Amino acid sequence: MAKLFDVYPLFDIQPEKGNGVWIYDKNGEKYLDLYGGHAVISIGHSHPHYVGMLNEQLNKLVFYSNSIQNPLQSELASKLGELSGYKDWQLFLCNSGAEANENAFKLASFHNEKKTIISFTKGFHGRTSLSVATTDSAKIKAPVNQVHDTMMLPFNDEDALKEAFEQNSNICAVIVEGIQGIGGIHVPTESFMKKIREYCSLYNAVMIADEIQSGYGRSGKFFGHQWAGVEPDIITMAKGMGNGFPIGGVLISPKFEAWHGMLGTTFGGNHLACSAGIAVLDVLQKEFLLTNATTVGDWLMEELAKISGVKEVRGKGLMIGVEMDTEVASIRKDLLFDHHIFTGGASEKNTLRLLPPLNLTKEQGLKFLQAFKKVAEEAMA
Ligand SMILES: Cc1ncc(COP(=O)(O)O)c(C=O)c1O
Repeated sequence: MAKLFDVYPLFDIQPEKGNGVWIYDKNGEKYLDLYGGHAVISIGHSHPHYVGMLNEQLNKLVFYSNSIQNPLQSELASKLGELSGYKDWQLFLCNSGAEANENAFKLASFHNEKKTIISFTKGFHGRTSLSVATTDSAKIKAPVNQVHDTMMLPFNDEDALKEAFEQNSNICAVIVEGIQGIGGIHVPTESFMKKIREYCSLYNAVMIADEIQSGYGRSGKFFGHQWAGVEPDIITMAKGMGNGFPIGGVLISPKFEAWHGMLGTTFGGNHLACSAGIAVLDVLQKEFLLTNATTVGDWLMEELAKISGVKEVRGKGLMIGVEMDTEVASIRKDLLFDHHIFTGGASEKNTLRLLPPLNLTKEQGLKFLQAFKKVAEEAMA
């Protein structure tokens, strides 16, 4: 019998339905979801507006290729531009984060005909040519893609960045997460982001903001890099964009000119994906979820910092990293199996990640805080 290629360690839980921040397993047990399947659930599981729009589209047309007109794509682009503040930018639609980043690299090298892409330690950009930046795992030995040269620099290190630009005339792009996700929720300093912007402009390189995890309102601003007040040249997104439906996008500055055949994909921007994307934007706006992310997130971070065993709390909005004095694997397991709360890990073993739906309430947050306090105390005892 054919079996699955075993690349994922699995928890022995089988979710069957979701509602808001809650997930129910096949035995009817209820779980508080503070992880959203790697930061994917932005507006809550099975939001009625989202379900309604997807159902309506399913009954009409599921897919036709990008060779004919699909007005849903323009509607999505226009709403996205409006909400994110990038009104006159251009949108290319694809299916995942890795694909969005690959297209961003392509665009960058079409633009300046250079080859080297700079990424940063603890960064993650999907299973792309920069996947080596993901983890310290000894099993991942080398960059896999040779189309671009890659250079990894220390995060938040302005001197290293300056030196790299001064010594290498082939720098095509710098890719940086608005807030680092899987690396352990590290926020770039405003000054670091401004330096990236400055050097990219000075040396004709392209600044790519990877907002795949930190975008779509998660940080309390539409995109994480907006906290630093910089404007990149290309912004990549996925995850929360479809609230679980696979969709990715590349938001492209007006200075890039498209030509037919430059980029392409079979499924990207299909009718169902666009419906999901539009529904997410509708709900983010109507329910003021960016404001909620800030209010509930600030409060959670403040409360978390008071708990014994917590070394540092990092992040913005509802993208929170809790660094503990100890490894968090068993804390996460206890939260899941004893208290029915999903949380995430990070490549830093002492850091727990919280990436809940953006409509999390304080009441639900309090449930987590009480459980976490108990579990953390036991772990430190
Ligand atoms: C910042 C960032 N970039 C890119 C990716 C890759 O996205 P995908 O898994 O959809 O390819 C991820 C996924 O975790 C991510 O967090």
